Amino acid sequence: MTTDLVVQVRNQLDASPTPRHLVEFVSTQLSVAGFIDCTSQNLSESYPSSGFIKRAGSLVAWRQGSKKVEQFRIIGAHTDSPCLKIKPRPDESKFGWQTLQVEIYGGPLLNSWLDRDLGIAGHAVLRDGSVKLFCTSTPIARISQLAIHLDREVNERGLILDKHLHLSAAWATGEKALDFTQWVASQIDVKPEKIISVDAQFFDSLPAQIVGVDQSLLASGRLDNQASCWAAISALLETQSPQDTCVVALFDHEEVGSSSATGAAGPLLEHTLERIASASGLSRIGYLQALSQSSCISADNAHAVHHNYPDRHDHAHAPIVNQGPALKMNSNQRYATSSTSAAMFVRACESANVNHQMFVSKNNMPCGTTIGPITATRLGIDTVDVGIPQLSMHSAREVCGVSDLVAMQKALTSYLNN
Ligand code: CO
Repeated sequence: MTTDLVVQVRNQLDASPTPRHLVEFVSTQLSVAGFIDCTSQNLSESYPSSGFIKRAGSLVAWRQGSKKVEQFRIIGAHTDSPCLKIKPRPDESKFGWQTLQVEIYGGPLLNSWLDRDLGIAGHAVLRDGSVKLFCTSTPIARISQLAIHLDREVNERGLILDKHLHLSAAWATGEKALDFTQWVASQIDVKPEKIISVDAQFFDSLPAQIVGVDQSLLASGRLDNQASCWAAISALLETQSPQDTCVVALFDHEEVGSSSATGAAGPLLEHTLERIASASGLSRIGYLQALSQSSCISADNAHAVHHNYPDRHDHAHAPIVNQGPALKMNSNQRYATSSTSAAMFVRACESANVNHQMFVSKNNMPCGTTIGPITATRLGIDTVDVGIPQLSMHSAREVCGVSDLVAMQKALTSYLNN
């Protein structure tokens, strides 16, 4: 059982170098399970009992409960991860290297992108309006670190990277300029003049792998937060006949603040919930009533205690790897967790028979935030922030515990089923 789940999450991670690829992967899975794609559905049609909509790198899926819509049980997670995006006019030729210029997306650990065999993935928008995804199957670029002989004090001083000068990637040698748009055209098999715009990024070409002499860890790019996306969708697929209406919302742009047309601060979830409510015959007042009785779990990875840096955690509230999902609390509302939403998650863990832990950051170390407070603010729904503990957050390659992944999936399934 555990092995099957780990194979599922690895398949998803390897197939999803960008949020759009993730949405494509998840929507195929949902379609196979009988969910109807309502992305292009006419406004006059009402939503089916199980369906989903896609908007670029975001997706909302639902399964109506037997009670129709008296309340929603919502799980939210984000599809994006910090990375290096390729600029619209990226080509530059210098000193025998053909390079691509990058723009930094979100807050990556920049050093983690050095000396990796990188692939390129993204999508192109064509003149006819269609969107074509592409992804290299072999590594084709590299950002090399300066040799220690040319940077003698790097181990004492620490690595300092100039964000503009030191991150371009080499993808060919020699003097002949390779045009990036022409290359994208060859990837999607169209003429270059058919392409109007391209959105592309680098990714670590190493697939997700199990690590540890006890096989207890999973290493991959994008665990934050595609691991939570997997747990949420897997829980929805396992919840065959819920009482309450179950909704999973996967949002893009969390790493840059969520304020976008498809981010958690946009209207995507709100509008979808209203249409689901209307499909089950609820009035506007009935919909507002349903919202006030609904709940949301915002699942976004947490920081496990690092073996070399135990001082970075408050030890009474420090998630240990492979000891269960963490409840994330912050009284200043950087996390949305309330006493009642915390109790709801604890009950879900107990009925799934999985352990849970608590995370509160040290007072002298401000914590991050998630989509939790944003959705709670927009919808007025009691929300809990939880996460799979991991190390190396925002690295090109992160690591988390295998049993924590499975425990989160079980806790979310139990939440949706209740
Ligand atoms: Co995150």
